[in-house]
This record gives sequence, C-alpha cells and structure tokens, in this order.
Amino acid sequence: MKILVTGGCGYIGSHTCVELLNNNYEVVVLDNLSNSNISVLDKIKKITGKSVKFYEGNMIDTDLLDKVFTENKIDAVIDFAAYKAVGESVEKPIEYYKNNVSTILELILAMKRHNVKKIVFSSSATVYGTPDEVPIKEDAKTGGTTNPYGTSKLFVEKILKDLYKSDNEWDIAILRYFNPIGAHESGLIGESPNGVPANLMPYVAKVAKGEFEFLRVFGNDYETNDGTGVRDYIHVVDLANGHIKALEKLTKEEKGLYIYNLGTGTGYSVLDIVKAFEKANNIKVPYKIMPRRAGDIAACYSDPTKAKEELGFVATKTLEDMCRDAWNFEKNN
Ligand code: WQD
Repeated sequence: MKILVTGGCGYIGSHTCVELLNNNYEVVVLDNLSNSNISVLDKIKKITGKSVKFYEGNMIDTDLLDKVFTENKIDAVIDFAAYKAVGESVEKPIEYYKNNVSTILELILAMKRHNVKKIVFSSSATVYGTPDEVPIKEDAKTGGTTNPYGTSKLFVEKILKDLYKSDNEWDIAILRYFNPIGAHESGLIGESPNGVPANLMPYVAKVAKGEFEFLRVFGNDYETNDGTGVRDYIHVVDLANGHIKALEKLTKEEKGLYIYNLGTGTGYSVLDIVKAFEKANNIKVPYKIMPRRAGDIAACYSDPTKAKEELGFVATKTLEDMCRDAWNFEKNN
C-alpha cells in the first residue's frame, strides 16, 4: 500500500515514515521544509534501506496536490503538516490558522478529486483545553482551548466530523498526541526545530549541550506536585507506531471516524523531566524558575485505554528511553 505523508520531513512525520517503511508500506512525502530539512530523507534511507518519493511544496498549491495524486496511486494519507508550538501560536495566530486549517481544506478537496478517502489526522491533546479532570478520555469535553495552535486542531477535527457526516464513505482516524519527545535510537533523526526550540525536551538537550546557559522553567506555582507543568510524554517512535495501528484500522475494518488519545497515561512535571534527563545521561541541566508562559495549562495526561482496546496500541518506551534517545540525537547533530 502507498501512503502520502504530508510534513513527512518533520519530527513526527520522519519517524512515522521509518515505521511505515519498516512495515513494508510505500511512502510518498510532501513537505514545504518550513520546519524541517531535506537531509532527513537520506537519514530515513540510512535507517531503513528504503527511499521515499519526495515532493517539495505546500498543500495550498492545488496543482502540486493534483500532481502528487496523479503520479501516485495513494491508498491513504497521514497529515502532519502543521505548525505546532503552543507559545508561538499565541504570538502568531493568523499564521497558525492559515497554515493549520486552510491547507487541510485543499488536501481534502484534492483527495475527493482523486477518490482517496482514508486519512489519519495529526491532532493534539491541546484540543481538550484546560481539562475538567485528568487522566483525559476521548469523550472528555473539547474546546476552551487556551492557544491558537490547539484551536486550529479543534477546527480541523470539526471539519473532519462534518466531512464524515456528509459522506460516510470517508475513513478517518483523528489521533490526539500528548507530548512526543525522544528520537530514533540511531540518533540520525530527531526533534530539530528551526530556531530556538519552543518545546521542553529539545531545549533541555541544548542546555545539556551548552548551547543555552540554563532551562527557563515556565512557572512553579501550578496546582501540581512540584508546582511545574505536568504533561504526558510519549516516545516519538511509540507515537509513530500508533499511526501504523491507526492505518491498519482504516484499511482492514469497516469505514468510520475514529478518535484516539496517543499517550502513556503517566504525567511528568518539568522538574521530573530535568531529573530524569540528568540521571539517564549523567549530565547537569541548570534551570531557573521564570514566570508562566501564555497559553500553558497546569496538567494534561491521557487515559490511553481506548487506543489499547481498539487499536491494540500501547506505548512501550520508558522515560529513561526518551531522555537517552533525545540526548543521543542532540549529541550527534
Ligand atoms: C511542556 C511543559 C511548559 C519549554 C506540546 C506541543 C504541541 C502539542 C502538545 C503535539 C509545559 C514547560 C516548556 C521550556 C518549560 N504536541 N516548558 N520551559 O506546551 O505541552 O505542547 O504538546 O501536538 O505541539 O507544543 O509542550 O514542550 O512546549 O511544554 O518550562 O523552555 O514544559 O510550560 O509545562 P506543550 P512544551
């Protein structure tokens, strides 16, 4: 089967391409390289011994989309192409809505033109806003999002639900990621955002490497054990395998619209992550407590039961694996 992976040069996209190739899927990648580097394609080949077919460009380019679907018999699409930094989205809302929402409208229209109706959508736990309770189940209230990034993901989820209502020939899996961290064990691919990392783990790794003097801990006055933000960190390779399970659901079972949390079910605080990183890698990570970051919430972690029961998906890698693999990637790049 041939899968189109939009944003396939990115952090989660590239790890998913590796797992797709390892599972004998053929892979076509469309990426505008706005937050990734084309060198990732060679690294995917080094890891798997297989190549992907690559198209550079943006999904807003309908001619390019038609070219991709005309030149390749695509069986399903996995859509990663989006901006994803919570803090940045508060500063640049219009760029986030334009990039994260209007592009998928063009993608869906192109899929319709070419009669491809299976899509796995990269959503996010941020659609739950400030959760009423944790752990969070898929039927928890969504909305009340605290940043444009989460709101853009909520908009797309609504678009996909309306699409399915209008035509239940569509086969849709909405995957709500919690906090993906870590890297492939080879150290060849990992989280290397352009510019200063907005997310915790890549910043921690750069402090360990000496690129930054200390980690800014955004607030220690949250209602959590140690006052710092709690999140459900999941190894990016586990997350990638969750996409394989979702694809199997779409290609082997009856059509439908499915929503799954992809997380471990365990919450760790910022200081837990610092301590785990220091222990796993025997290295110091200096930090300073700073004011809270706009758009942040106190605690967010998943109840992963539904993905386990319906997809047979369980995250297996430990926090130590995540810290070790993140540092291994940073050291090698
Ligand atoms: C985690 C914690 C910060 C940086 C992410 C992605 C988003 C989505 C959801 C996939 C928070 C604290 C961070 C730093 C810090 N993922 N922090 N100093 O905000 O949960 O969102 O997960 O869809 O794409 O952005 O992740 O890593 O930015 O923050 O103290 O320098 O670490 O306050 O408590 P977040 P994050």
